Amino acid sequence: MLQLGDEVVYFSAVFLLVMLGTRSAAGASLLTACLYVFMVMFRFPPVPADQAGRVLRPRAPSGGVPVVAHRGGSHDAPENTLTAIREASRNGATGVELDLSFTTDGVAVLMHDETVDRTTNGSGPVSKLQFVQLKRLDAAARHRLKDKFSVEKVPTLQEAVQECIKHQLTIFFDVKGQPDKAVSALHEMYKKFPVLYNSSIVSSFEPKVIYKMRQTNPSVVTALTHRPWRLSRFDDGTPRSVSTWGQLWTGVLDVLLDWAHHHILWKLCGVSAILVQKDFLSLDYVQYWAERGVEVVGWTVNTAVEKDYYQNLLKIGYITDSLLEDCDSHY
Ligand SMILES: *[C@@H]1O[C@H](CO)[C@@H](O)[C@H](O)[C@H]1NC(C)=O
Ligand SMILES: *[C@@H]1O[C@H](CO)[C@@H](O)[C@H](O)[C@H]1NC(C)=O
Repeated sequence: MLQLGDEVVYFSAVFLLVMLGTRSAAGASLLTACLYVFMVMFRFPPVPADQAGRVLRPRAPSGGVPVVAHRGGSHDAPENTLTAIREASRNGATGVELDLSFTTDGVAVLMHDETVDRTTNGSGPVSKLQFVQLKRLDAAARHRLKDKFSVEKVPTLQEAVQECIKHQLTIFFDVKGQPDKAVSALHEMYKKFPVLYNSSIVSSFEPKVIYKMRQTNPSVVTALTHRPWRLSRFDDGTPRSVSTWGQLWTGVLDVLLDWAHHHILWKLCGVSAILVQKDFLSLDYVQYWAERGVEVVGWTVNTAVEKDYYQNLLKIGYITDSLLEDCDSHY
């Protein structure tokens, strides 16, 4: 009902704008009609609600909201490792969020950054390392609990998937770039482990990743990730661009992207969820999406007070760096 309402408003707005601009009712009608046909022809319907529900509302042991360990729980264990996955399960997470990356010989592995410097004892871009070279590195080398966990390997995507299945964890696959490689590697995983259709979701900041994923495999549950002002500001709020014009321009793009995410892209991609930076969440915001059949998941929720707000007020799932204690955000 509401979705139809949205559409009537948008297409009327387009019609009016074009009509005012061109002073031609025929031209405006034609353009609006073309736009409508484009949306209908090129959008992917969302996966069935019961399938999305299995992924986004898995049985939480305590009856609470779903709790997803960010990068496997980067505060509690070395991020994006098999140990992190095991720890997350032991500490009561319902799922883990994992980052996909590729070695120079095309092996899908877990790594958040473009380089291995921050998390391992190696250096340089992942994309310049052979898998055999990456395998020799210690993924626990830079972690605050490195003595507790000693040596950890960088896992392959498949190893991580199998570990999650073993522990019945939901997986949030986070895809940053390389849409073609990522989509084909993930598609392989869904073919090999069909249980993933009921227990995983592919998310990205990039709508084209999600669109491509659904084009390749329309049965996959997907989400768009959103952080307002992402193009103009870093995670900590400082401007990306030093020039005033740069800031202004990226700011305009941010407004457009924000509008597109909330009004067009979610529908075109047929996403089941939107993953939103926690500072921009409210009950009204959650309600906006609930009316459109889309779940909201907040990130990165790291304090007991915030977790309580999600559990008792918003009643939605969240992504956290720690299942055990309050901690700072690990960007
Ligand atoms: C990193 O640590 C592992 C395990 O201790 C070791 O085998 C490897 O040689 C180290 N690599 C570098 C580049 O220091
Ligand atoms: C997903 O779960 C439903 C309901 O339990 C089940 O019928 C279906 O076979 C499952 N799909 C896969 C691929 O495991």
